[in-house]
Amino acid sequence: MQGKNLILTGYMGSGKTTVGRALARQTGMTFQDLDLLLEERAGMKVSEIFERETEKGFRDRESALIRDLLAEGRTGMVYATGGGAPLREENRQLLKRLGLVVWLDAAAETVIERLKDASDRPLLLRPDREQAVKAMLEERRPAYKACGDMKVSVDGKSPEEIAAEILSGAEKGSGEKKKMKILIINGPNLNFLGIREKGIYGEKSYEDLLAMIREKAGEMGAEVCCFQSNHEGAIIDRLQEAYFEKVDGIVINPGAYTHYSYAIHDALKALSMTKVEVHISDVDAREAFRHVSVTLPACDHQIKGHGLKGYLEAMDYIAAKKQG
Ligand code: DQA
Repeated sequence: MQGKNLILTGYMGSGKTTVGRALARQTGMTFQDLDLLLEERAGMKVSEIFERETEKGFRDRESALIRDLLAEGRTGMVYATGGGAPLREENRQLLKRLGLVVWLDAAAETVIERLKDASDRPLLLRPDREQAVKAMLEERRPAYKACGDMKVSVDGKSPEEIAAEILSGAEKGSGEKKKMKILIINGPNLNFLGIREKGIYGEKSYEDLLAMIREKAGEMGAEVCCFQSNHEGAIIDRLQEAYFEKVDGIVINPGAYTHYSYAIHDALKALSMTKVEVHISDVDAREAFRHVSVTLPACDHQIKGHGLKGYLEAMDYIAAKKQG
């Protein structure tokens, strides 16, 4: 466990700090509370930052801090995040890269019981606090779920028990997260981006597209493989290889094959992972022959007319599908 960071997320009162300390005791790892670190750096209390800079200012500082921690590259750390950190997509991606993210899931009753003496949480002083906490937990649940590599229910358990559960779960997965694998396939003439019909496809080159895709994969913590061919058979061979590689999703721009390649349709049909068809241009607003896609019925989703960004959106679609 020493080489891998553990990140504890969850609503206030879910026990991030006490469990973080228990983990540090059991493993010899170093515990750090991100809210405290942020306060230290800002020279202000969290409440003061919220007052002066609004929640957005606080979240910007939080994202910057996580980015810095990633750049520092420390290992063997247990980090407790602020309760709202996973609400931002950017933070979710960054936290996943920082280490194994554990969501400490607490029922509303547990939260209220644990924080009954806290006088600095306005939400908990309201007469309808149980309803309010329940509503807030429900609202945040999808973000915690999307961020967590592991969920541990904390209700009725001691910090030591929860820490032991986390360690055994992390070991079972050998602590190493399986990266999501995405295959990007580009068909004929897409290697000519930046040369061909710039008014339609833009100025950026195929290399620029690859750089955008790699950067996005880095942010997502995904493994990406890009393939381009001007030959129908080569594309089909690559699709068949994807079956054996067990990729999680395929983004395919079949180029002009979109409009008539039943062979590519069949190859796609044989694969059960998420498949997204992408077109840089809005094919429906162009010549009539481009309005038909014979490959789309074998895909789950289509993105067209969003330029090169469409590929990145397709990667997000695959990630969202995988998280269910
Ligand atoms: C394309 C649209 C196709 O009609 C065309 O043949 C291409 C590119 C697109 O990305 O917009 O080569 O798939």
